[in-house]
Amino acid sequence: MWSTLIAGRHPDAARRMRGFALSIGSMLLGLTIGGCGFNGTEYRWQLPDGFPTPLVPEDNPLTVEKIELGRRLFYDTRLSANARQACASCHRQEHAFSEPSAIAIGSTGQKHRRNSMALVNVAYSATFTWAHPGITTLERHMLIPLFGDAPIEMGAGGHEKEILQRLKVEADYQRLFAEAFPFQRNRINFDNVSKAIASFVRTFVSFDSPFDRYAYGGDDSALTESEIRGMNLFMSERLECSHCHSGFNFSQFVTHESNAPAESPFHVTGLYHIEAQSADGFDFGLFEVTSNPADKDRFKAPTLRNIEYSAPYMHDGSLATLEEVLDFYAAGGREITQGVWRGDGRKHPAKSAFVRGFVLTEQEKQDVISFLHSLSDERFVTDPRFGNPFAPDRARRE
Ligand code: HEC
Ligand code: HEC
Repeated sequence: MWSTLIAGRHPDAARRMRGFALSIGSMLLGLTIGGCGFNGTEYRWQLPDGFPTPLVPEDNPLTVEKIELGRRLFYDTRLSANARQACASCHRQEHAFSEPSAIAIGSTGQKHRRNSMALVNVAYSATFTWAHPGITTLERHMLIPLFGDAPIEMGAGGHEKEILQRLKVEADYQRLFAEAFPFQRNRINFDNVSKAIASFVRTFVSFDSPFDRYAYGGDDSALTESEIRGMNLFMSERLECSHCHSGFNFSQFVTHESNAPAESPFHVTGLYHIEAQSADGFDFGLFEVTSNPADKDRFKAPTLRNIEYSAPYMHDGSLATLEEVLDFYAAGGREITQGVWRGDGRKHPAKSAFVRGFVLTEQEKQDVISFLHSLSDERFVTDPRFGNPFAPDRARRE
């Protein structure tokens, strides 16, 4: 079949053959795999040996063409109603696709309560956002930044026609959409916008840190002695970090071709435990979605890969540095003594038994921080395939 034949070739060769394949493809329409002819060049994961292949939804197979279109859209501010904000405004490559401010600010200036999440190996995530059990695919998640109105991020709701029109008039987009979604009429629509951006974001994989070279690449010299000591502390029962930041992705709720997701990945870490009965604007995490009192203050344990690049930390960016994060865990939670959010997180009744607190020497503390830095993948934050595709004079980022 043409689609599989071409998939095995170099993308350029595939591109050269496309015109031919398209005509043959339409002749074969209904006969080829999936019944839809040439649907694009299959994307080949380049994962180190032993790393599982991420799951991809059946109705959005990963193709080189969709990823290329998704990359444009990810960096294009015209996707927001007022053309001021792109995904990349809040998700910046040099910060592992997060941003260096505590909370996100949407395109209309509205404040988000939460910190922009780093987008690292999200292809393996079984749930999206800091605390939501029901958003289980990237495609579905795309609707939130695009159309969400509490808070407004890109504010596309009610402006769909206008936004699509901006794309429709551009020859570049006409070509990219045609290549990504052949055999479709009216292909410049939000369903395809979401599918293309999700495809691009799915390729943000990171497995090239010193830790990876040490643990998976068999290079004993890839980590310093301090980093190795830090790794052992991280994995120890004294610190328990790896209980929640576990497995190859240092996160809990991963899914891929060879496993089913684990049980609940949402935990109370003791960051807050407000005394007030109600506090306007306070973020109760999972509880806000489930309304189950037992879910108050539960959040997802995010990946710690590339954590060095994505300060500040936690769902509201309220810890500025990795040192502060470590002090927070060492204290077994955080007490806030003033203001409406005061309360002793250390005494939260639902706090995880794995956040007990511990005492570290200065050297040990330094070792753990060094280990966390060894999870940094420099290639990931500089890889031009993930970068802004627009020429500098047309940069669409703010
Ligand atoms: C205004 C800033 C802002 C914009 C614009 C924005 N995001 Fe986000 N993003 C966030 C914040 C904040 C979160 C955490 C949301 C939450 O927990 O409720 C997030 C979460 C995510 C996640 C979940 C990651 C995970 O590990 O669970 C993905 C994926 C994502 N954004 C992708 C995108 C894409 C793609 C776009 C463009 C269509 C986009 N974002 C636009 C701020 C932004
Ligand atoms: C009980 C599970 C659990 C344990 C044990 C745990 N964490 Fe976490 N970790 C979480 C959760 C949940 C969050 C998100 C909390 C929030 O945003 O309110 C988090 C957040 C973090 C963050 C910030 C991530 C980001 O993107 O902002 C870092 C860094 C971190 N943990 C490091 C550690 C270290 C180091 C240890 C061991 C000392 C540890 N964690 C132990 C569950 C855990």
